Amino acid sequence: MDALRRELESFVENNGFSYSKVAKAMSIGTSTLSEFRKGNYKGDMNALAEKVRAFLDRHRTTMKRIKFSADTEVKKRVFYTIDMIQKYVASNVKERLLESAKIAYIFGRAGIGKTHALQEYVKSYKGRCIFITAENNITDVTMIRKIARELKLDYHGRMENLKEDIKDMLKFTETILIIDEGEHLKPKVIDIVRSIADQTGIGVVIAGTEKLKQQICSQRGEYEYLFSRAVINMSLKDLDIKDIRLIVTKFLGSEVDLYEDKEIAEMINYINLTVKGSARQLSNLLSLASDIASRPENFEDTKGRITIEYIKAAITMLSIM
Ligand SMILES: Nc1ncnc2c1ncn2[C@@H]1O[C@H](COP(=O)(O)OP(=O)(O)O)[C@@H](O)[C@H]1O
Ligand SMILES: [Mg+2]
Repeated sequence: MDALRRELESFVENNGFSYSKVAKAMSIGTSTLSEFRKGNYKGDMNALAEKVRAFLDRHRTTMKRIKFSADTEVKKRVFYTIDMIQKYVASNVKERLLESAKIAYIFGRAGIGKTHALQEYVKSYKGRCIFITAENNITDVTMIRKIARELKLDYHGRMENLKEDIKDMLKFTETILIIDEGEHLKPKVIDIVRSIADQTGIGVVIAGTEKLKQQICSQRGEYEYLFSRAVINMSLKDLDIKDIRLIVTKFLGSEVDLYEDKEIAEMINYINLTVKGSARQLSNLLSLASDIASRPENFEDTKGRITIEYIKAAITMLSIM
């Protein structure tokens, strides 16, 4: 039992996990875990030890995943778009100007890295970003509540008051409201957001799939009005081979030097053909291939190095060919 305790302790030290996170991941209470560590747990000690052991086992074999952010074309375009909005917002604040809201739309297929890029922007922006993920059937009321919640406002009160509180809080602040998965938004919901932006000078960015593009650009009914408020409509392209090369070489890291140039080029070509412009497929493929490469039966052969054979094996498991 002492050995298990020590193992848990060194896991936490090495992985920058907090004990409350660990307890949550094990689905036990923080106090239970703390009793375990102090050796004064009064409950079923064997069952608890089993949970700790299983947790440590799961984490011994965690997958290698993309932990970096590559400057893909998608990311550059997303940044460019939000930067535009940011400039409008800054000048609204500077000039104390409230004119019609500035909305940017970003359109692109699923899996190309929209959410990733938006989140990277949020991380890098020094002003305030409110990041909302729209869900199916989201209503204007839910949208207001979500915004209130992001602003840490008490969101149980009356809707009208809440809207006023939100506006008071946002007026002439350099805030950018980013809504992801915007294809779920009904015109009425976009319009609520638009009216908040009209009256506060904040910027609005709505990202979504081709479905969003069809809705907005159809200009039918209420969409005509919303379309006319767009200051930029950015269409994103699928990942091209340059993006793929960027991500693959970053993923391999210093191991890149272990390959012949020809071998790398062949691998990248092959991956490019299979993932068909999707960052999500690429990310799954790389994780799986590196997992196959590090299995004991393969490790002796290739020392954990990803080869084209492992990539092919991974592809059959993902069935993306
Ligand atoms: N610029 C990037 N750098 C590194 N990884 C990326 C990048 N863009 C996307 N990815 C990877 O692709 C996955 C899918 O991207 P995501 O942003 O969820 O796509 P989308 O929102 O367009 O459906 C992410 O989980 C991430 O692993
Ligand atoms: Mg997404």
